[in-house]
Amino acid sequence: MKHVAILISGGGSNMLALVNSMTGDHPARPVLIASNDPAAGGLAKAKALDIPTAAVDHRPFGKDRQAFEAELLHHIEAANPDILCLAGFMRILTPGFIQRFQGRLLNIHPSLLPKYPGLHTHTRALAAGDTEAGCTVHEVTADLDAGPILGQARVPVLPGDTEDTLAARVLHEEHRLYPAVLRRFAAGDRTPVFL
Ligand code: GRF
Repeated sequence: MKHVAILISGGGSNMLALVNSMTGDHPARPVLIASNDPAAGGLAKAKALDIPTAAVDHRPFGKDRQAFEAELLHHIEAANPDILCLAGFMRILTPGFIQRFQGRLLNIHPSLLPKYPGLHTHTRALAAGDTEAGCTVHEVTADLDAGPILGQARVPVLPGDTEDTLAARVLHEEHRLYPAVLRRFAAGDRTPVFL
């Protein structure tokens, strides 16, 4: 059985989709939900599901990313996960942290990478007049949003779409894609999932 830790910064809808998928003959189980924001809504959802949680507020650490990560690592290592999933985690991780989990550190990004790495992906897709958008699950490497792709889901961009309507359509697919990728990844299969 693989043990999965999930890092969140906000509501944790992707975390919830992942947690709810890890049942029955699924080869993984959640062991920790951690956040850089003690007020993250996802922490309450995890507690309601009796999953161990941890919160390390990044703000007191200021620019000292290493010190923040050292504290976060303390909680992560106590849970001893096999796989680390970033799900709406909004802090950039240092190469040192990434090195430690290289090959078992996943992230979901709300665009069809390599298009639109970084922020405001839906606004950029709309501004470019794209007729298609979507989300990507990838392995995390030192290059932001550029690691090996483990899965993608596509959605149409519809006339009259706003950032919010497109984000909602993509988020729905995120909740399908990430669990499908994690299940395959936890079984040792890195064949990409395309939805
Ligand atoms: C999602 O759009 C996801 O793509 C991005 O963070 C957003 C919020 O995710 N990584 P969640 O609801 O907190 O899982």
